[in-house]
Amino acid sequence: MTPTAAAAVNEQRQWNWLMAMAQLGAIPDNGVNRACLTELDRQARRLLIGWAKDIGATVTVDAAANLWLRREGSDPDAAPVVTGSHMDTQPNGGRFDGIYGVIAGLEAIAALQQAGVTTRRPVEVVAWTNEEGGRFAPGCMGSMSWSGFRKIEDFADVADPEGTRFADALAAHLATEADLPRRPLGSQPHAYVEAHIEQGPRLEAEGLDIGVVTGIQGSRWFTVTLTGDTAHAGTTPLALRRDAVQDMLRAIAALNVLMHDPDDVLRFTVGRIVVEPNTSNSVANRASFTIDFRHPDKDVLLARGNAVAGVVQAAVRDAGVTVQENFHALPVEFSPLVINTVERAATEQRFRHMRLPSGAFHDAQFVVPVCPTGMIFVPCRNGISHNPAEYSEPGQLAAGTRVLTQALAELASA
Ligand code: GLV
Ligand code: MN
Ligand code: MN
Repeated sequence: MTPTAAAAVNEQRQWNWLMAMAQLGAIPDNGVNRACLTELDRQARRLLIGWAKDIGATVTVDAAANLWLRREGSDPDAAPVVTGSHMDTQPNGGRFDGIYGVIAGLEAIAALQQAGVTTRRPVEVVAWTNEEGGRFAPGCMGSMSWSGFRKIEDFADVADPEGTRFADALAAHLATEADLPRRPLGSQPHAYVEAHIEQGPRLEAEGLDIGVVTGIQGSRWFTVTLTGDTAHAGTTPLALRRDAVQDMLRAIAALNVLMHDPDDVLRFTVGRIVVEPNTSNSVANRASFTIDFRHPDKDVLLARGNAVAGVVQAAVRDAGVTVQENFHALPVEFSPLVINTVERAATEQRFRHMRLPSGAFHDAQFVVPVCPTGMIFVPCRNGISHNPAEYSEPGQLAAGTRVLTQALAELASA
């Protein structure tokens, strides 16, 4: 008997693909450091392209270097159903964040092939460019420019820590993929479903297999730069200093008050600090730090986010201040069509599941305005992510892919 597409999902093949990808950028303790548009990213994409071609998918790339793998349907004019995620990682990242959603999409196509399922609509797998924002901030550049939320040109001058401009990295990268047919940036899918590890502790704590994701909380990113004067640490009286580090500490303390939330729903992170000249015996003339601020309630996101610049200004004593906002994504709710399809697929396959919102942002956030969108989460050990210790079991990952495959098959048959 021919298996259903979901039953044809091959846990071992998917695991092998994931582990082969994890070699590219491997760091100690099972971590991965594969920044976007680097040589390692190119190698990972080539590996993916090879596997996609092996299973009969066609491969194209767009002007944002989003990579598209396509399995045709019986009606070539029908809008496709799209799945996917990202292949870049955090500098100290794990083996599953992002790449799981891409490999799950590939495995879903392979399973559809193997089960001999013909869908009316094409199924496409996309690997979005620069979701993490670790090398070029902010994240989600590929999906934002595909959806029209931002223009790819808006990011041209964003520089990585070495000073390389995004536009130059993108052009150099696309030159290496000149053999791939180009597709226009932007399209109109029938629906989008992204599989991802949960990156939080809830599914594991509840003993569940599948998270049916209902939406994504909002995020705002800022860079605060404080400019003082460098001076001799041994001789300059404190009263005469314009010390950028001391003002940074005042600013962060004041922001902690602004962002205080007794319910612990709000997320406020200062994750990157750059100090100049960064020596022990000089007063710092420059200090910059990033703010990652998230909340599921749009009103809180707007009110507290809009207060950031004023709070920093009021807190600093001596330094000059600039506050630049470089990411602003409001909370989104996913479509009932996709939520219900995913939930039904989980129920029919007897997976234990629950509905939950996402605390992490994802490319899916920017697909919401374009077409019905949703996500599938699988548990990860201790909820750990953005960390080499990130881990989901092969069977947990396969369960997510089985649900994805059934959801794609249903949506692509409509
Ligand atoms: C994505 O990686 C996020 O920071 O939520
Ligand atoms: Mn991710
Ligand atoms: Mn991530």
